[in-house]
Order: sequence, then C-alpha cells, then structure tokens
Amino acid sequence: MRIPDPFTLIIFGGTGDLSHRKLFPALYKLFLQKRLAPSFEILALGRKALSNEDFREQIRTSLQKDVDFESEQEILDSFMTHVHFQNLDVGQPADFLRLQQSIQSFHEEVQQNILFYLATAPDFFAPVARELAALNLNQEISRTTWRRIILEKPFGTDLESANLLNKELLKYFEEHQIYRIDHYLGKESVQNILAFRFANGLFLPLWNRRHIHRVEVTAAESLGVEDRGGYYDQSGAMRDMIQNHLLQLLAVIAMESPNHFDPDSIRDEKAKVLKALRPIHGSDIHDQVIRGQYIGSKIRGEVVPGYRDEANVDPQSSRETFVAIKAFIDNERWQGVPFYIRTGKRLPTRVSEVVIHFNGPGHQLFNEFTTEQRGENQLVLRIQPDEGVLLKFGLKVPGSGFKIAPVGMDFHYSDLNEDALPEAYERLILDALIGDNTLYARADAVQAAWKFVDPILDYWRQHPNTKLYGYPAGTWGPPETLTLFEGSEEDWRYPCKNLSNDDSYCEL
Ligand code: BG6
Repeated sequence: MRIPDPFTLIIFGGTGDLSHRKLFPALYKLFLQKRLAPSFEILALGRKALSNEDFREQIRTSLQKDVDFESEQEILDSFMTHVHFQNLDVGQPADFLRLQQSIQSFHEEVQQNILFYLATAPDFFAPVARELAALNLNQEISRTTWRRIILEKPFGTDLESANLLNKELLKYFEEHQIYRIDHYLGKESVQNILAFRFANGLFLPLWNRRHIHRVEVTAAESLGVEDRGGYYDQSGAMRDMIQNHLLQLLAVIAMESPNHFDPDSIRDEKAKVLKALRPIHGSDIHDQVIRGQYIGSKIRGEVVPGYRDEANVDPQSSRETFVAIKAFIDNERWQGVPFYIRTGKRLPTRVSEVVIHFNGPGHQLFNEFTTEQRGENQLVLRIQPDEGVLLKFGLKVPGSGFKIAPVGMDFHYSDLNEDALPEAYERLILDALIGDNTLYARADAVQAAWKFVDPILDYWRQHPNTKLYGYPAGTWGPPETLTLFEGSEEDWRYPCKNLSNDDSYCEL
C-alpha cells in the first residue's frame, strides 16, 4: 500500500462545488482507509470570511452521504482536526503572505511537502502560480521534499491559450511538479482498459485495423447544465468533454503497448495517438462532425427546459450540448478505422462506454442472416455505470437448421463482491501526493488534443450558420448523427432499455 509523506494540501477554491462534492469526500475516504500520511494538514482557501468551525460544519454537511455517523463519528472528528480555512483573494499579495504564515504555523514535518490544488476558474491559475513563486512556495527544499500543483480542467480554451498558460506556469513550476487533472483517467474502469489490453495475450493480436472495423466512444449524460449555465455557455460539449475526457479515453484505447509500465512510457504512447489524430478541416466538418443542442421536452412525465431556457444561458445561444465526431488516427495500427465519438447532455441516461466492433469472417457461411441476426463480434468496455466488460458473438440456436443468434459473455465489477470502486478523485489525489503522474495529462497531450478540436471550433465560429440540430431532451441526440455512417447499415449501440418508465436499465 502506497502511503504518502507527511504533507500540507492547500485548496484554492476550497468553498466551491468541486471541493464539497469531490475533493473532501475523496480525502475523507482516503483518511478512513488510512491511506493518508500519519501527519498532514488541509488548508482550504476561499473568498468568504469563514471560521475554521464554520467551514468544518459545511464540510460535515457535504460528507453526510459518505459517512456512517454511528460507527465513524470519532474518525470524522479526527479528520476534521486536520481541516482549516483561510480567506484569500487571489488579487491580494498580502493574503498570500498570510497563507505563508499559516503554512509556517503547521508542524515542521508537514511544511516540507506541499500540494497546491487549484480548484478555481482557469483565469486564476497563472496569477496563483506567480504569487506562490514570489514567496518561494514553489521551491522544493531538498531532493526528498516536494512542491506540486494540481490544475483542474479546463486547461485553456483553445490551443493558443493552453500554450500561453503552459508557458506562464513553466516560469514558476517545472513540468514534473505540474499535475493537469482529467478525472476520466482516474476512473477505475478506464485504468482497467490498460490492464485489459496489455495483461492479456488474447486481444493484443486483434487490436488493429486488420481485425477491428470501427470503434465507438460514448459519454452520455442525463442531466442538463444544472447550475453551471454560465460556464457551459462559454464552453460547450467540445471543450467540456471531447477535448479532454473523451480524447484521453481514446488515447488509452488506441495507444501502442508501452515499453515499461512507468509514467513517461505510458504518457509518451498516449501523446503519440493524439498527435496522430487526423485534423478535420473545412467542408469535411459537415461530413464528420454533428453538433446539437437540447430543446425542452417531457422526460418520464416531467417537463424539462431546453438549453436556451436554462439559468445563465444566452436565450439565443448556439452553444453545442451534443457532439458526434467521426475521427481517424493516421498511423500503421489504425489507418482507415473510424472512431465514432459522441457526448451530450440531456440524453436518455448516464452511460459511458467504448465499443470495439470486430470484422466479420472473410467467407460468410451464414449469409442469409443480417449482421445483427448473426451477432456481430463486439467488445464493450463499460466505463460507468455497472462497470464491466461484455463480449458479444453469434452462436447456433439449439434445434434443427442453422439459425444463428447473438449471445454475450459478460463481467461486472460488482460481481467481484468487493467494496464500491474507488472514486476517480481518491485515486488521483493519492497519486499526486505520492508523486505518480501517470494518470495526469502531460502538456504535449493537452496541446495535441487542442490541435484536433481547434479547427472545428474555429470553423463553427467563422460559419455560424453551420447546422446546430435541436434534439428533444431525453433522446439520443440528433438523428442526423447517422449520416456519419455514410448510408451503411451501421448505427450506434443503444445500451439502455425501457427508458420511458422507472424500470429503465442499461444492459452491459
Ligand atoms: C466534467 C464536466 O469534467 O465531467 C461536466 O465539466 C460533466 O460537464 C462531467 O458532467 C462528467 O463526469 P462524470 O464522471 O460524471 O462522467
């Protein structure tokens, strides 16, 4: 079990939504499992004027669903003794001096190693890094002590801003100190793709253009933009999900086998895939990219507003809440294999999965059946929910004749009968405390991902009349996504059934 050195964790944006919903629950779980160092302090920073007690009370409320108050009361109390709050305005250098004094008031041992977590709007990343450096808080005191900085997404809003931000950060921190978080990489089921691909001889020889016909990557969400209309209306699905989570996921699926299982070898291979993505320019954008926006509808009897009626969204907004892309990777392994990527808000359900469609047999003995009836060979890697792996193939129906029907062999993580899978943030925070950046995005990979999406975003900006298809909330996005399959019989996989009533489920 990897246990970090004694540390201080400083959370900028400590009163924000991410801190309450993800960071503190993850930290508490790590504490409960005794995965944190024996001595540590957590200092949350925010603009509000709160006492330590007020802040701890707020965190207790946020942790309600994670704590069994009967059996864990003492543990929770003990965790809270490590939690502190200080108000800080990023524009006030004097506040950083007070921050330095607070750090110095902690036990000497925990002051040696400091993790700065920037859970703030990206505009604050560079100013915070600059102020920290002005007080030498970025300096690693010796070879065995460390200073690290975690940056939440989005990392830039386009290639240029991402490059600028990177340049700015590198003035104050070295690359090995910078941790760009992409919480998809922390998901257990995404890491499992690495194990599935590289720990088993079975699929390795099949993982290429000779045997794989196409790949689907889906991240569907049932929620709308909730209370994040202001942010989302600047961002849209391309920046919010595709540029980071889905392209990182694609890189894990498509990467070559690394020489070693170490951070650089893995990140090298992932970056190579992103650099090999074929850019989509000009009129190809019409053929290869479909954008959509949800319109008001009724979902299971409940009226849900359209995107333009959401709070803090421009009523004329042309921001996309859905994107589907047909992408290609120009390398020896994947030449010619389409990767269909889609994501959207207000789709019928929340499900993320990768589907690998294998080629059929060269000589078709059962050609009176459609591919569907024969059972195409599909491998489904389910990221969430009901994490698992499903292999589909065709078998003979018992009885006379040779009727073929699709069947599946499936594995569900829940069958392991162990505790719930750890949350992505538990894994990622622990990794940063230990100094393992394998599951964090490296600058070149982030740049390559921007290089791929930038021409599409530019084109949409320059051609505002590019079709933005409305889709009723609660549907799988615009039916026009089928044009990506160019008139073939192919279609997306729709894993969820009965979505019109409460017995809905997503079969693996
Ligand atoms: C975040 C996006 O990065 O990921 C959100 O900003 C999105 O808009 C979320 O809802 C999806 O994450 P998950 O883990 O729920 O699939």
